[in-house]
Amino acid sequence: MSLPLIYTSLENQKKAEEIASNLGTYATDNQALKNQPHLEVSAKGLSFFHPKARSSKKLRIDFNSGRIQWRIKRANHEKLIKKALGKRETSLNILDCSAGLLQDGLLFLTLGHNVTALEQSKILFYLLKDGISRSENQSIFEKFNLINTTAYKYIDKANAYDVIYFDPMYPINKKNALSSGQLEYIARILEVEMINNNPQKDFACLQSSFKKKIIVKRPIKSEPFSKNINYQVFGKTTRFDVYV
Ligand SMILES: C[S@@+](CC[C@H](N)C(=O)[O-])C[C@H]1O[C@@H](n2cnc3c(N)ncnc32)[C@H](O)[C@@H]1O
Repeated sequence: MSLPLIYTSLENQKKAEEIASNLGTYATDNQALKNQPHLEVSAKGLSFFHPKARSSKKLRIDFNSGRIQWRIKRANHEKLIKKALGKRETSLNILDCSAGLLQDGLLFLTLGHNVTALEQSKILFYLLKDGISRSENQSIFEKFNLINTTAYKYIDKANAYDVIYFDPMYPINKKNALSSGQLEYIARILEVEMINNNPQKDFACLQSSFKKKIIVKRPIKSEPFSKNINYQVFGKTTRFDVYV
């Protein structure tokens, strides 16, 4: 990877060099590179920037933000995902095969479940790790495990879990673009890392190896990955396809 990792002061140099080495890229203090795609380590943490992204803001994961805190506080009102998970007295062991920005994963944790989240992107993995390390609520991550791998490579271990959750990327169009600035940033990251997915194929792999519940999050009007859905839970723009 040739994405520069820019550090903003000497205090951040060591951290920048460590992350850069893990990512297989280089750390630099050349601030002139800031108008091209890059990572940055500053006192605020690790961030990613892409000049072609609609949002002019950098992507930094902030679990302390008001928006996330609000979501955590009202987790019990998230009827759709609770319906998809089903009623159960004890905590579930959930394998989230699409960590992304961990918004759904965080919801599962808030609802008291154990979560292992897989993220194929190295950049997102380090952005998430950095966000978690800055979280003011470390206790929420006590039952959480983040792994930098693909669902396909982890499938042999999946049977230790009760539920697989899969929220793959979908093409960003004009309609969903505005609400999904963050999703666009994920797409930019995958582009930089040259990661191309085939969600239909990934789903087929999950379904052929895992015989318990699989919950797939899809845009509301999209075709399901398989006709053998046991039930669906509909929201306004997305739906959950549940395979038991
Ligand atoms: C739509 S985003 C998920 C958003 C996430 N549910 C959230 O709440 O923030 C999809 C993410 O899953 C990752 N992903 C997609 N397919 C994957 C796979 N087969 N294995 C591991 N990660 C995958 C992508 O890299 C991307 O970060």
